[in-house]
Amino acid sequence: KQRNLELKERLLQLKKERNAIILAHYYQRDEIQEVADFRGDSFLLAQKAAETDADVIVFCGVHFMGESAKILAPDKTVLIPDERAGCPMADMVNVEGLRALKQKHPNATVVTYINSSAEIKAETDICCTSANAVKVIQSVDSDEIIWVPDKNLGHYVSQYTDKKMIIWEGYCNTHDMLTVKDVEEMRSKYPNAEFVVHPECRPEVVEMADFVGSTTGILKYCKQAEAKEFIVGTEDGTGYQLRLDSPDKTFHFASKFLVCPNMKVNNLKKLVRCLETMQPQIYVPPQVADKARRSLERMLEVTV
Ligand code: 13P
Ligand code: SF4
Repeated sequence: KQRNLELKERLLQLKKERNAIILAHYYQRDEIQEVADFRGDSFLLAQKAAETDADVIVFCGVHFMGESAKILAPDKTVLIPDERAGCPMADMVNVEGLRALKQKHPNATVVTYINSSAEIKAETDICCTSANAVKVIQSVDSDEIIWVPDKNLGHYVSQYTDKKMIIWEGYCNTHDMLTVKDVEEMRSKYPNAEFVVHPECRPEVVEMADFVGSTTGILKYCKQAEAKEFIVGTEDGTGYQLRLDSPDKTFHFASKFLVCPNMKVNNLKKLVRCLETMQPQIYVPPQVADKARRSLERMLEVTV
């Protein structure tokens, strides 16, 4: 406790000295969400990074999020508390594979989930997050879409369009772990609870839900819903904001495996250290960033 207090004081000091802003994804540890200037989902945090007038952005999330911030705000210094915080789903698609697919389907528009590397974004027409994925798909002119990398989210959005979707086989290790059996067990344990789920989960799990939405979608839904008890099918860090928004409601996470180990690599100590040492910094080669920026800026135009 005492150590945490000291760290928080040091953080405030450093934030001022460096003119830094701290952005934290809802999947971060509570101790990080507590000290962030903005907590948010992938969409909101990308928006904040693009808008800020701070000199330094500390992105508490995973690597692709820091990269997106750097692409959108190339003149800022972007720090991440630990560069080992990657996203396995983002690593499931490679440039050669995507180029081959584009060659095979030359008239298709490439729509890429923001959970992807800068190199993949540079090969992309428009990015999306889970919050605006359906709207992005609907905003595209062509009849054919190459969708990378999340097959589960791809399946979910394909229900909202007549366009032909060519879907990459990636997935989120954490969300994809949730099974029908897990949800059935939770439902029999908590029969009065509503089941809310993130579309990164498997289609058969998503089908069981009372509400399907991005992290922000789930937060908004639970806040205004009449129900008092929820089974939550997304990463457990979301509990911080859910409980803050609705202290009178009960939230049961649908499985003990709904923890993204990559998101949890960051902690308060590493956050303070990165502002102290100004390392590790995100670097994106300018020629990659310039290409990738268009796809992210187009994404930000499609409001959630
Ligand atoms: P959102 O923040 O868009 O809900 O995405 C979830 C996620 O898995 C981020 O890594
Ligand atoms: Fe990647 Fe899934 Fe972790 Fe998000 S929750 S960072 S998609 S592994």
